Amino acid sequence: MLHVEGLEAAYGDSQVLFGVSFAVAAGEVVTLLGRNGMGKTTTVKAIMGLVRPRAGRVVIEGHDVAGEPPFKIAQCGLGLVPEGRQIFPTLSVEENLIATAAHRFGPPRWTLERVYTLFPRLQERSRNMGHQLSGGEQQMLAIGRALMTNPKLVILDEATEGLAPLIRQEIWTCLKTLKDEGEAILIIDKNVDALAAFADRHIILEKGRVVWSGNSAALIADPVLKDRYLHV
Ligand SMILES: Nc1ncnc2c1ncn2[C@@H]1O[C@H](COP(=O)(O)OP(=O)(O)OP(=O)(O)O)[C@@H](O)[C@H]1O
Ligand SMILES: [Mg+2]
Repeated sequence: MLHVEGLEAAYGDSQVLFGVSFAVAAGEVVTLLGRNGMGKTTTVKAIMGLVRPRAGRVVIEGHDVAGEPPFKIAQCGLGLVPEGRQIFPTLSVEENLIATAAHRFGPPRWTLERVYTLFPRLQERSRNMGHQLSGGEQQMLAIGRALMTNPKLVILDEATEGLAPLIRQEIWTCLKTLKDEGEAILIIDKNVDALAAFADRHIILEKGRVVWSGNSAALIADPVLKDRYLHV
């Protein structure tokens, strides 16, 4: 579904990604792990075209989209839930959801009704403005908005960050539902234990390079990995 090959990116003169390569298959859940500042968000931004890759390929179902504008890459089937949520504060919940449905590609797998079934709380709040929502509700809206584009791959950057434990649990439950329904997911999160229980495969980044990849059993079996690469 998604193949990233030799991805390099920089902010001005400072190079941040040094040839990142990995793949996500249809229906697969893959994580990007690593301590603060190791290049996880930059990898996602370079994939989405929000940071222009300096080298490398971003292949979505056979088409290399590296260097294309973000809206085109989104149209190819990548739905991003960005770090910091970035919902529209002066639009209602429903308007936020409809706004991205306009960018959808292909037949509508995801509808307002289906998003409301996944997040009943969004239906209760459908007439509220984005800025009136709690952090957890904003996060649900950000996920719902990404789904409304009918993505082939959902990318989540720190979707549970800064949320109360109960709300966090609610988000994990919804992500589990998405996984069970066969959505492909690329996810970044600080909660490695939750990710090990949830995901199929893991990619660890260290200073802009992939230093390890493997399945959840291999991640759990190697405590040295946690000490070396994942302690915050
Ligand atoms: N807009 C920017 N301008 C300049 N440097 C940046 C910018 N964004 C990130 N960086 C730098 O690039 C490196 C990688 O940052 P990135 O945000 O990709 O890390 P991350 O793994 O997502 O970290 P975190 O876990 O804190 O979210 C860091 O050294 C960071 O300081
Ligand atoms: Mg980040």
